[in-house]
Amino acid sequence: MEVLKNKKTLQDFIERQKEMGKRIGFAPTMGALHNGHLSLYEAASKENDLVISSIFVNPTQFNNAEDLEKYPRDINRDILILKNSGFVDAVYIPEVADIYPEKAESSHYDFDGLENEMEGKSRPGHFDGVGTVVEELFRQVQPDNAYFGEKDFQQLAIIKKMVEKKKIPVKITGVPIFRAENGLALSSRNQRLHEERREASKIIYETLEKVNKWFNEFSVTEIKERIQDIFDQQKGMQLEYFLIANEETLQETDFFYKDKNYRAFIVVVVDGVRLIDNMHLD
Ligand code: PAF
Repeated sequence: MEVLKNKKTLQDFIERQKEMGKRIGFAPTMGALHNGHLSLYEAASKENDLVISSIFVNPTQFNNAEDLEKYPRDINRDILILKNSGFVDAVYIPEVADIYPEKAESSHYDFDGLENEMEGKSRPGHFDGVGTVVEELFRQVQPDNAYFGEKDFQQLAIIKKMVEKKKIPVKITGVPIFRAENGLALSSRNQRLHEERREASKIIYETLEKVNKWFNEFSVTEIKERIQDIFDQQKGMQLEYFLIANEETLQETDFFYKDKNYRAFIVVVVDGVRLIDNMHLD
């Protein structure tokens, strides 16, 4: 596996691969790799000649300095995971100046309103930061296909929208949420939780499963009341939001219409760690 530590080495590498007509699959990450990332690489390896990942903790998508500072970083461990995975041919680990040559600042994006829902309300400027870094990485890596986890469902929708609006020639694929045995969605942030809190956090997934059952029985208001009751009884957990949204527009719904697809979205803060999850409702 090639370890490409700056833009110049990446460019030389990409040029060689393009000359050979290789089809490139790309999965950008912020490191602290886990099995969820491996599922992106596995999907990419099935559909491409070559898989590239990137590791870059993007400062512009953090709206909280403490969250940026506490974001887990262990580059040597990550490189080892990538090598051992057998799915990845090259990893790009840029310096901040490779992505932001002048100032680490976001561009402003219009994602047709997707950016104003859920995480957009809770984390102002977050999606401008994500759009900026992903657009730049796409420009540098020039992938044919790119892979993103459905855990960050809103991010996935926003990247699809960006590619469509800016006519960037890359196909975006969403990869289903990878869960621990107890159901907790894998996330780099889980590393910040003690073992027993990770175990207790399975309630987030269990709750979403309940919502999927209640979906045909109860109104949105009743479901929301039940969810609030569940989390009111959990020590050290705060329900930041729970809502059910139209899967395409990501707008919150108060009623269910037969011909629309819905997804439940939840954010719970466990011992100061913000955990997000979602589930398609059948
Ligand atoms: O999902 C992530 O890890 C990040 O938001 C991404 C897409 C790598 C952009 O920094």
